[in-house]
Amino acid sequence: MKLTIFAATGGIGRQILEQAADAGHDVTAVVRNPQKLPGGLPGQVSVVTADLAAPDQATLESAVEGADAVLSGLGPRSNAEAGIATRGTQAITTAMKGTGVRRIVVVSAAPIGTAPSPARPNPPKHDPGDGFLMAHLLNPLTKAALRKHYADLAQMEDILRDSDLDWTAIRPPRLTGKPLTGTYRTAHGQNLRRGLLISRADVARSMLRALEQPDTISQTIGIAS
Ligand SMILES: NC(=O)c1ccc[n+]([C@@H]2O[C@H](COP(=O)([O-])OP(=O)(O)OC[C@H]3O[C@@H](n4cnc5c(N)ncnc54)[C@H](OP(=O)(O)O)[C@@H]3O)[C@@H](O)[C@H]2O)c1
Repeated sequence: MKLTIFAATGGIGRQILEQAADAGHDVTAVVRNPQKLPGGLPGQVSVVTADLAAPDQATLESAVEGADAVLSGLGPRSNAEAGIATRGTQAITTAMKGTGVRRIVVVSAAPIGTAPSPARPNPPKHDPGDGFLMAHLLNPLTKAALRKHYADLAQMEDILRDSDLDWTAIRPPRLTGKPLTGTYRTAHGQNLRRGLLISRADVARSMLRALEQPDTISQTIGIAS
């Protein structure tokens, strides 16, 4: 496939890039700082530089043009960067519409099903997949600490729902740096019971697999080890 990967220097983005290149896909990596890419990238990887905080639409359109799918590991590196998932995903989806590219898979987060957004001001209080401890203790704590970050991801999901594109948002719980296993649980539209952790490598694998799973289109996908 011909794939365009946004934020290919991030924890998940780097894994998507590596796994896509290993699988022999033709990859365009879009990054704000190309020096952070690993050396010795295979020949079928090309690199486009774009800061999604101030995106140039023509650059984004040339990066996605002709792609079979777009994958994004974009997210705020700090609270100060909250808003980038919304702004960046808006720019990416606009570039996709401008060039007729339809498929996009992005990273969201497990608590977003219960996080309010402009289009979903009153989301369910609890995710049907969360157990008592997650729903009543862990989720409220992380949501208080990461309020701006989650508001950003919730609004990013609004953009996808409203886009008319073939979108999938993967909602991982806490990310780890453990190696790829390829063995993990997923659920459509809800989190996984006792699903506290998942490796970035396995999230990347699930995003690439989603491209071959039409039933993930227009869905949020819970994932956990
Ligand atoms: N940490 C967790 O436990 C957890 C749990 C659930 C969900 N998540 C979500 O998953 C996302 C991905 O996780 P991760 O560990 O891969 O995050 P990460 O390593 O922080 O990667 C974030 C990526 O976004 C890029 N980015 C940020 N601002 C940008 C901008 N203005 N223009 C272009 N690129 C920009 C970063 O580029 P640079 O490399 O140049 O900084 C980086 O590639 C997180 O952002 C978060 O929303 C995280």
